[in-house]
Amino acid sequence: MISDSARPRRLRNLKWARDMFRETRVVADNLVYPLFVVPGKKFKKEISSMPGCFHLSADEAAAEAGRCRDLGINAVLLFGLPSKKDPLGKEAYNPKGPVPEAVRLIKKAVPEMAVITDVCLCEYTSHGHCGVVKNCGGHALVDNDLTLELLVKEALVHAGAGADFVAPSDMMDNRVGAIRKALDASGFQQTGILSYAAKYSSAFYGPFREAAQSAPQFGDRKTYQMDPANYLEALREVELDIMQGADIVMVKPALAYLDILRAIKDKFQFPTAAYNVSGEYSMVKIAAQKGLINEKAMVLEILTSIKRAGADMIITYHAKEAAEWLRE
Ligand code: PBG
Repeated sequence: MISDSARPRRLRNLKWARDMFRETRVVADNLVYPLFVVPGKKFKKEISSMPGCFHLSADEAAAEAGRCRDLGINAVLLFGLPSKKDPLGKEAYNPKGPVPEAVRLIKKAVPEMAVITDVCLCEYTSHGHCGVVKNCGGHALVDNDLTLELLVKEALVHAGAGADFVAPSDMMDNRVGAIRKALDASGFQQTGILSYAAKYSSAFYGPFREAAQSAPQFGDRKTYQMDPANYLEALREVELDIMQGADIVMVKPALAYLDILRAIKDKFQFPTAAYNVSGEYSMVKIAAQKGLINEKAMVLEILTSIKRAGADMIITYHAKEAAEWLRE
């Protein structure tokens, strides 16, 4: 072995060398920006738990999609807040609901924008759970197969409105296969499925529950979302979703689960997404507002880490700011 104590430094000391040998680069092409769509027109109101994010009516969502396009972002992910909720989440499959309306307006205003829609019932059910549930002594027990029928209806409504991808986030068993089958049978072979394959029951979703008004009214989501302690189970979940026809598999949240992301990328070598969730966003945003951190540097470090761990696609509420910073 040669003794050359300067070797590790020689490339780091030089800017051109740091730039030339950098292994990971995040670009705007990797980013997806989530939008929260509400009923009405010309409505835009900041979400207090997520500073810088807004509840938008469908027309405002289309305007926002235009701004995303101008920043070089190619995809948005839509969440819907309905005008009324009920135990079966009926507004989730109303073709006139805010999400299908926003899909149509975005596709009209910005045809090149990829539109992905969240498929779940939690924003639409009066009890706030992701499926049809029974309250069993404070525990939420989901009727998996009854829920599947409703999720399929929701996915078909979104595809019918022109969504490019549907993204089931409910964590019911076999929903990817059920949705794929229904899409194919209805002429939507081109509509893709971005599956929330390894979705953990996480405290990092806290701020989102205000944004989507989807906090469970009893019990929690532990009966259908994954235990943060489990690694092998994530591999099994991803394998099932790939076998059932998912085009992209997702790990969620991102930062506390980078080991899962790397394992999935290595094992399946499949298009992989990570969701940099609301809690991860608001921690950074609020610390930045208090002057505790350098937001730009921290966000770019976070996004680079998520990509380095194996994500091709990163869903992040920082997408617009990051796209601007990446241009500088
Ligand atoms: C709906 C859904 C949730 C998120 C995305 N889809 C909330 C949850 O499962 O409780 C969280 C997103 C975020 O925190 O940014 N099932």
